[in-house]
Amino acid sequence: MGLIQEVDYGTKASQAEKLVTLTIDGQQVSVPEGTSIMRAAMDMGTKIPKLCATDSLDAFGSCRLCLVEIAGRSGTPASCTTPVAPGMVVNTQTPKLKQLRRGVMELYISDHPLDCLTCAANGNCELQDMAGAVGLREVRYGYEGENHLGAKKDESNPYFTFDASKCIVCSRCVRACEETQGTFALTIEGRGFASLVAAGPEKNFLASECVSCGACVQACPTATLMEKSVIESGQPEHSVVTTCAYCGVGCSFKAEMRGEEVVRMMPFKDGKANRGHSCVKGRFAWGYATHRDRITKPMVRAKITDPWREVSWEEAISHVASEFRRIQAKYGRGAVGGITSSRCTNEETYLVQKLIRSGFGNNNVDTCARVCHSPTGYGLKETFGTSAGTQDFDSVEHADVAMVIGANPTDGHPVFASRLKKRLRKGAKLIVVDPRRIDLVRTPHVQADYHLPLLPGTNVAVLTALAHVIVTEGLVNEEFVRERCEMDAFQEWAEFVADARNSPEEVAKISGVPAEAIRGAARLYATGGNAAIYYGLGVTEHSQGTTAVMAIANLAMATGNLGKLGVGVNPLRGQNNVQGSCDMGSFPHELPGYRHLSDDATRTMFEGMWQVKLDPEPGLRIPNMLDAAVEGSFKGIYVQGEDLVQSDPNTHHVVAGFEAMECVVVQDLFLNETASYAHVFLPGSTFLEKDGTFTNAERRINRVRRVMAPRNGKADWEITQDLARAMGLDWNYTHPSQVMDEIAALTPTFKGVSYEKLEQMGSVQWPCNDTFPEGSPVMHTASFARGRGRFIVTEYVATDEKVGPRFPLLLTTGRILSQYNVGAQTRRTGNVAWHNEDLLEIHPHDAEERGIKDGDFVRLRSRTGETSLRATVTDRVAPGVVYTTFHHPDTQANVITTEYSDWATNCPEYKVTAVQVSPSNGTSEWQREYAAHGKEARVIEAAPAAE
Ligand code: SF4
Ligand code: SF4
Ligand code: SF4
Ligand code: FES
Repeated sequence: MGLIQEVDYGTKASQAEKLVTLTIDGQQVSVPEGTSIMRAAMDMGTKIPKLCATDSLDAFGSCRLCLVEIAGRSGTPASCTTPVAPGMVVNTQTPKLKQLRRGVMELYISDHPLDCLTCAANGNCELQDMAGAVGLREVRYGYEGENHLGAKKDESNPYFTFDASKCIVCSRCVRACEETQGTFALTIEGRGFASLVAAGPEKNFLASECVSCGACVQACPTATLMEKSVIESGQPEHSVVTTCAYCGVGCSFKAEMRGEEVVRMMPFKDGKANRGHSCVKGRFAWGYATHRDRITKPMVRAKITDPWREVSWEEAISHVASEFRRIQAKYGRGAVGGITSSRCTNEETYLVQKLIRSGFGNNNVDTCARVCHSPTGYGLKETFGTSAGTQDFDSVEHADVAMVIGANPTDGHPVFASRLKKRLRKGAKLIVVDPRRIDLVRTPHVQADYHLPLLPGTNVAVLTALAHVIVTEGLVNEEFVRERCEMDAFQEWAEFVADARNSPEEVAKISGVPAEAIRGAARLYATGGNAAIYYGLGVTEHSQGTTAVMAIANLAMATGNLGKLGVGVNPLRGQNNVQGSCDMGSFPHELPGYRHLSDDATRTMFEGMWQVKLDPEPGLRIPNMLDAAVEGSFKGIYVQGEDLVQSDPNTHHVVAGFEAMECVVVQDLFLNETASYAHVFLPGSTFLEKDGTFTNAERRINRVRRVMAPRNGKADWEITQDLARAMGLDWNYTHPSQVMDEIAALTPTFKGVSYEKLEQMGSVQWPCNDTFPEGSPVMHTASFARGRGRFIVTEYVATDEKVGPRFPLLLTTGRILSQYNVGAQTRRTGNVAWHNEDLLEIHPHDAEERGIKDGDFVRLRSRTGETSLRATVTDRVAPGVVYTTFHHPDTQANVITTEYSDWATNCPEYKVTAVQVSPSNGTSEWQREYAAHGKEARVIEAAPAAE
């Protein structure tokens, strides 16, 4: 096993179909029109020396190393910027070229420190390689003249250094930041010999606009930009392809290793979700895997006020089994349940729900999708017939209009955001529907054509008003609707949206969005060409979350923006495997593949495979489990990889639920907030320590591969299997591939999925079955999964959560690029350099009214609770709206959020809470009590001294 070497063709592949034949070094070669001579030569195995060219970036032609001679043409053109032509005769290796190349290299090397032996890039440096390739033997100019050898090193970024003394000013970093990432943080300052790469006016990466995506580091051909981990550990010696465990983009990486140590994570060029790019989290924030806070031994305690006692795996597992049996004997079969994790693999999630249904004998299983995208599942199933997004990410390259609703891709789904921004820079139009002025509204070389800054809670009204314009202005794609949709339902919907109460003018009064902006956005969406909708939790986490998803589906059907490239309805999934955890049957009413428990044929199939009788009654959802716990009928829970206390709404109620249970089992990496209320802690494993699959927001099933032994001794699926055996189930899986085989056998949409296929294809998007053996990048191409698409009437009903004199502001929540969800992982990495506390964004007008200045501590209060945090005064939020993140347990933003939830799925209404903000001196009483309990609840009893 060695390092996976990806070929660098120097320039991008041409998409042209027409072939051109030419002769290079005496050999004929045919390549697509528009291909560079450099790439054509690579196609036949000839590497032309290069420094400024790399195939992820547009050719630039600055280093003059790739010169060639072309018969009949004067001079020595650069092969990276010269396209092939029919009949062209090219020479890449003549004495003249050799001399010229050596001369170029000599100039570079005369201003380069000759410390190759101690340089971190030694053995993996393109400058070094090129010196060898051109046969450089001497440097005639000496090192005495003017040079950059004393240039200062910038070590401000937590993850990489910038050593200007090694820079050859090839601009690859600047171009990567512009073309790949779309941040434009770098420039080349000065001219000629004085040229220098600069990160912002302060020439300091951390203080600049840089978002630490690492694209420049990856592009740099020298050690100028270099990962600190490589400087510390040395060059990697083998690599394994795996999948990022943070967000739903599902980026593929090569984990580059030395033995069992990760040296760096390198985005994989063949990764179909990310195409060789990454964000700061996936590339750099993996240090939590070996963080000292990780718990690696099982622990048990009788009461949550006792210190933890480390025990053997056998003792922990048999304790859980006997406790769950005792509780069921005393309180009934339905008194226990479990939560699957959207951070764990498909196979692990499948096994947890199988354990609950077949071992606990009930359907009390739920997942964190309950609190994020459950409305997506329900809404898209009702309208299209499948609970998933319709496109792949490549599809964005064909979009003419992108409508981003209630999502903040540059922070939440950064690699997708980079791909979207690239498309926007090429001229696609952008509509943003969001209460906040998110970065996409105005970012270098991108400006939204429409920003609809609606009041939180008015999504359905605005979406229906968009439909009103489409219907009343005759912009419906009638052919699509007639051929693909249920006509009766369409007629009913069209009449409903056309009603005057749904007009932009009426909706402007509720939403605060000017009617003209709604009209303009609707016209652009309906008539601008291929139009794609991307949406996030700003759509789903509302009392009408499901209705809003249906309204989005209606818009796409009415305009025919489905079933082809560049269009579609695309939920941006939050967690790495939230799509997978839903697919795997994590909801109390559905078996894997979204099949209802009440369906006898489906149940019989599972009963046959699992050899048990299944309860046909749906079980409890998370909020029902907590309510039942408070009421005294729900007593035991197995929580795999989920921190309900920090992530679920109305923390007081969640805590009360846990405190009322007799056996809380938490399986996680760290003693998280929920573990403070647990009786058993089962140490979990990281994505680096196990095999399996994740399914991203495109329905793409990606392999996760073990690169190191689990520190806790077991992968999470093995722990669930041990628990199942202790509860009397006869499970004998020896590898997650066997679990996937079982999933495929039981789930029609996964029928064609196997580890073998994933090995061959790299990844595959479900449905993957006899009809779509290679998977389905775009869904609903010829017909909808449910046959005909179904329009659904979306009446706007205002949330019960209303502002008033006591609580005059609306709080909405979200997340930030550098932190992830409850922050358990990212808070334990260098990412705290960017965000080490949750902040409250407040408009200058609201701040002034309350005597609040930027950076002041403020009290944030709702009818459910209060907390304190610092304020940022900004006009990013509209007057009347405040915003914060929920990454830090010491802020506990969810103490504020209420019990209101989506009518169909119980998804909490995180995005709308009526609050008051006032100056404060410090933390609230609840925060102090909570911190004290957390400290006490984390005490681990000292191990007895050895005899
Ligand atoms: S790390 Fe990313 S954002 Fe920062 S300068 Fe490099 S390419 Fe630009
Ligand atoms: S930092 Fe690296 S990529 Fe950027 S100009 Fe210098 S050598 Fe080229
Ligand atoms: S975009 Fe998401 S999946 Fe990709 S590297 Fe970042 S966190 Fe990981
Ligand atoms: S590689 Fe062609 S000019 Fe640099």
